[in-house]
Amino acid sequence: MKVLVVGSGGREHALCRALSRDPAVGALVCAPGNAGTAQLAQPRPLDVADPDAVADLAEAVQADLTIIGPEVPLVAGAADELRVRGLRCFGPTAAAARLEGSKAFAKNMMHAAGVPTAASRDHIEVEPALADLDEFGPPYVVKYDGLAGGKGVTVTTDRRSAVAAVRACLRNPDDRVVIEEYLDGPEVSLFAIVTETGAVIPLLPAQDHKRVGDGDSGPNTGGMGAYTPLPWAPRGLSAQVVRTVIQPTVDEMARRGTPFCGLLYAGLALTSRGVRVVEFNVRFGDPEVQAILALLATPLTDVLSGYRAPVWRSGAAVTVVVAAAGYPQAPRLGDPIIGLDAAGALTGVDILHAGTRRDADGRIVSSGGRVLCVTASGPHLEAARGSAYEAVSRISLAGAHYRTDIGDPSRLGPYGPPVVRQKP
Ligand code: AMP
Ligand code: GLY
Repeated sequence: MKVLVVGSGGREHALCRALSRDPAVGALVCAPGNAGTAQLAQPRPLDVADPDAVADLAEAVQADLTIIGPEVPLVAGAADELRVRGLRCFGPTAAAARLEGSKAFAKNMMHAAGVPTAASRDHIEVEPALADLDEFGPPYVVKYDGLAGGKGVTVTTDRRSAVAAVRACLRNPDDRVVIEEYLDGPEVSLFAIVTETGAVIPLLPAQDHKRVGDGDSGPNTGGMGAYTPLPWAPRGLSAQVVRTVIQPTVDEMARRGTPFCGLLYAGLALTSRGVRVVEFNVRFGDPEVQAILALLATPLTDVLSGYRAPVWRSGAAVTVVVAAAGYPQAPRLGDPIIGLDAAGALTGVDILHAGTRRDADGRIVSSGGRVLCVTASGPHLEAARGSAYEAVSRISLAGAHYRTDIGDPSRLGPYGPPVVRQKP
């Protein structure tokens, strides 16, 4: 079959890599793609935010299956348009994608379905939002209601910063802000495939590293690295999350007449009072899926369709994101990347591209904040981590930075790494 992958990041390169190993996949298109996907899949120009353009391309290339990587086309209705035209696709409708597109909607749905999450309230005016800041108390959690590319959340103990965040979220007449209770404990990303018939298939739990610097310092980013599985996670975590989070959500969405199918991403905090949902996303997490797919032994299209349960290779996988100088505030673009072949030659290593393109001279240069997702698998976490960092050391990109503590065993206590502080 011919598969169209929509998107241009490390997640889409990982999807293309898994699809290129799938015997059922004869041809691949990745639009718009990057310099890495172009080595596996035909690139095509595409405005991913335009549902008609996505469906036109799927028709033009005669795709048997379209997999939509990012949230923007899903929230805009690309999956609806594909289905209206009778085209097969992996991804939820716009109505179901509101689970990611509106935090207020997601909260309302979770409260209705009895899904454990932080207490919260949403507001369209500043004063009542400020009253809630004081009611919930520090650390303050302030969230912009709509899509914000991972930059819509402020977690701070400083009331002035929290007030500024509330005002920034309510700049325009239609804006809405969510104020919520702070959740302590380590964070876990659990992805579940939800088939068109409503079957729920959890993937391996993974952990992202959202802050830019070692030890979870500095500003939030799209994600600086990930590893899977989680040796410290409580036994039965996936089954518990399916039972208490994923299935009730799928049932509630169906009850409302907007059934969810595609990938449901539960961002979780393992708090001192139990598992709580931090957020839902409606697509694979990036960079978590790069590590997860590195361990998938089953053909990806069989897993996405629910035809086969995923079988995982033993061992562990680690993804280290190499980011451009200035990321996340003001990434510098256009720098040449050297050493990709030497890095990719290491056993168990896959150099997945995120923000890369070929320049007029055919050189691979940086074109985004997160440039590469260096992914390695190995018999255990330390081996995978060692290979990933060995590969990173072979790559040179002027001004690049990366975290040195992705999957660091010294940070893995019995209750997991101290990703967020205890509430004072
Ligand atoms: P989100 O975009 O909702 O995933 O939020 C981004 C990050 O902010 C999360 O990964 C957490 O690290 C942090 N965060 C969000 N909500 C909370 C909360 N209620 N308590 C503590 N940290 C949070
Ligand atoms: N890694 C976080 C996300 O994909 O939203």
